[in-house]
Order: sequence, then C-alpha cells, then structure tokens
Amino acid sequence: MYAKLMGLLKKKRFEHSVGTAKTAVYLARKYKYDVKKTAVAAFLHDCTKDFTAEQTRAFVKKYGIKMDPQSEKIPALWHSYTAPYGVEKMFGIHDKEILSAVRNHTAGCAKMGVIDKMVYVADYTEYNREHKSSVKLRRMVKNSKKSLDTLVLNVLQNKLKYMIDGKKIIHISTIEMWNELSR
Ligand SMILES: [Fe+2]
Ligand SMILES: [Fe+2]
Repeated sequence: MYAKLMGLLKKKRFEHSVGTAKTAVYLARKYKYDVKKTAVAAFLHDCTKDFTAEQTRAFVKKYGIKMDPQSEKIPALWHSYTAPYGVEKMFGIHDKEILSAVRNHTAGCAKMGVIDKMVYVADYTEYNREHKSSVKLRRMVKNSKKSLDTLVLNVLQNKLKYMIDGKKIIHISTIEMWNELSR
C-alpha cells in the first residue's frame, strides 16, 4: 500500500498522507476506535488528488462516477469523488467505513461517522500543515481533553472562515454538517 501510494502522489502529498495517517492513529487511540481502519482511511484519503485533469476525466468515465451539480463547480471537491473509487479499484479495499471517511474528508456531511471525523481532523491538523489555524488546532488535538465533535467543529469553523473570506462556494453538505454539529 505504501509503495503503491508513493507511486500515485507527489512527494509533498505523500508526506501529507503519512502525516494524516499518524495523526488519525493518535486520534483513534485517544477515542478508542479501530486503529487499523482509521490509519488506512487517513493514509489513502487523497489517493487520486494528483491525477492529471485527463486522468481524472478518464477515471470518472471508466467508473461512471456521478457528481451533484454543486460539486461540479468546486474543483477542490472532485478528488473526494474519485478517491473512494481509487481505494476500491486500485487498493482492493471495500470497507464501508473506510470508503465513507475518504468520501467525506473535504465537504463533510451531516451524518459523519467516527472515522470520517478523525480523518477530517487529521487532514487539517497533521504536522506538515503550516497554516496558522492548523498549528493552533494541532495544539488543541494534542493537549486537550476535548471531545472529537469539538475538534471537528473547530476544524469546520476554520474551513468555513477560509471559504467565506475567499468568497468561495460552500457545498450544502458542509452547511448541513455545520448545522448538525453547532447545535
Ligand atoms: Fe483531500
Ligand atoms: Fe488531504
């Protein structure tokens, strides 16, 4: 799996994947959840992100991958549609929890599973992330007794701020996730 992913990703993205897996393992131990499944989901979450536009087009066509019209307008989300297929077709992994975490790591959704949440937090806070908000949240992940939902909510809050400041489109699933967690 290690060698195969290394062949699919650029160096920086591969390092990000290792960092995400390590952070996710830390979270899985902390919140007492399946460490192995969490590690695999986190490690492979961006497995198709370095596809060229042409490769992505061919991949989408080959597997008949469907996107909702809103997602079609948000290129940052495209790899979350192709990556679960990558996990299945290229790595032979069919576990529903793993596929769900890979699928939901960018836009999120109202009903996030436990692995979904851990990968979501790990993706944003792993040690290669240098953005101010990632550094701040990394401290929260490591030092506090905060619940997993609190960590997720804080990551989401920062992502929303970034999207609003950049006047970016926000997918409805992200808004639904916010409404679910902020209650
Ligand atoms: Fe991603
Ligand atoms: Fe990522």
